[in-house]
Amino acid sequence: MNELPSSDLPSPSAGAPGPRVLALANQKGGVGKTTTAINLGTALAAIGERVLIVDLDPQGNASTGLGIEQRSRRVSSYDVMVGDAPMAEALLPTAVPRLSIVASTMDLSGLELEIAGFRDRAFRLRNAIRSLTPEGGAAPFDYVLIDCPPSLNLITINAMAAANAILVPLQCEFFALEGLSQLLKTVEQVRTTLNPTLSIHGIVLTMFDARNNLSGQVVADVKQFMGSKVYDTIIPRNVRISEAPSYGKPALLYDLKCSGSQAYIRLASEIIQRERELRAA
Ligand SMILES: Nc1ncnc2c1ncn2[C@@H]1O[C@H](COP(=O)(O)OP(=O)(O)O)[C@@H](O)[C@H]1O
Ligand SMILES: [Mg+2]
Repeated sequence: MNELPSSDLPSPSAGAPGPRVLALANQKGGVGKTTTAINLGTALAAIGERVLIVDLDPQGNASTGLGIEQRSRRVSSYDVMVGDAPMAEALLPTAVPRLSIVASTMDLSGLELEIAGFRDRAFRLRNAIRSLTPEGGAAPFDYVLIDCPPSLNLITINAMAAANAILVPLQCEFFALEGLSQLLKTVEQVRTTLNPTLSIHGIVLTMFDARNNLSGQVVADVKQFMGSKVYDTIIPRNVRISEAPSYGKPALLYDLKCSGSQAYIRLASEIIQRERELRAA
């Protein structure tokens, strides 16, 4: 097993009020949301940030990919959102120092109906995340990464209402841009109705294949459409990335030197850099 780089330096975000909450959203499945949540979370933690991943997909791939067994998911994201448990009770440590997770179970697939009648139905997650920071106290995390389901349902709306910004993984494939306008429209609706300060943090292009001319064309198209919102870091298609979850490990622990792990470390640095610029602005 590769050792992760670590540092004893104070967390780069120390002193900031509350955690930065980033929702990984795209209603398309298989574009790299969960892979990005796991590996970006691991890379941020390796740099010294305290990170929480909230698994909001009933499939629970982020939980499984981080080695959380079913029997450990005693208190899950479902319990928190339905109001049966405070979020503090759902926090689970992972094998990565400074990286915690709120795991999910299949129960989550029934959540929408159960909370549909609640007045605060869109704010269940926001309130749960806020409850982690004690009144007048310090936040226990620097970053909260929300892994959304492949849908624009009430669960994803909760993530958007709770987030400071949205991070959109887009797969480098022919139909990459299809569906992006619908996603952006939903973000705009959430901004005008539920969360006025919500922004798009950035677009991360995933599964880039240098041998495929189409990948290059997709990068050019997305950059033309989204401009500087597209991160410079592009995640390559890399078999080590897809192997890692079956070992219950982030790719960064499974093979730190592979091209995919290295790309996620660069993405983490780029995101921290953007955060610094936002805070200085
Ligand atoms: N950079 C990559 N290289 C190779 N396979 C990848 C890469 N990113 C994701 N995958 C694989 O693609 C599939 C879909 O990724 P996933 O992160 O689960 O997408 P989503 O959460 O958007 O549904 C998974 O099997 C994953 O292992
Ligand atoms: Mg997923």
